[in-house]
Amino acid sequence: MSSEPTLYERLGGRSGVEAVVDTFYERIMRVDELYSYFANTDMIQQKYHMATFLGVVTDDSAQFDTARLSTAHAGLGITDDHFALVLAALAAVLKEYGVTPIDRYTVAAKLRLLRDVIVQQVKR
Ligand code: HEM
Repeated sequence: MSSEPTLYERLGGRSGVEAVVDTFYERIMRVDELYSYFANTDMIQQKYHMATFLGVVTDDSAQFDTARLSTAHAGLGITDDHFALVLAALAAVLKEYGVTPIDRYTVAAKLRLLRDVIVQQVKR
């Protein structure tokens, strides 16, 4: 048994993760290719769900129903480029919050596993 604090704990628990999520969406809203996706989104709800999701990814014991991710992103025409931009934004914010390279790598690796539920290549 290890008593090492999890990344979730090192970020400061729920309130720390919420701060990361706030900064993350500030950054997303400054990216030309991304912000319009959230034009009709209730950002209070969005941040709540993202904080819960990120909590699970960083080892909070809470649960997140990943099937929700498929539903939430269905039909949005999200490309690999969008996906890469979101991952890059999150990595930059985690770096800003002092998260180590290995922890950033771990988070990114977990998120990359979700590529197939989020990305839908729109071929015309
Ligand atoms: C690994 C990458 C991503 C993660 C972890 C993620 C996470 C989430 C989460 C947790 C939600 C809320 C789901 C719910 O309501 O329960 C959500 C919704 C959403 N995401 Fe993502 N997302 C990712 C990538 C993207 C990308 C690339 C885009 C498009 C640029 C995007 C656009 C949206 C939109 C538009 C919504 C729904 C907003 C609404 O309901 O109005 N997401 N995402």
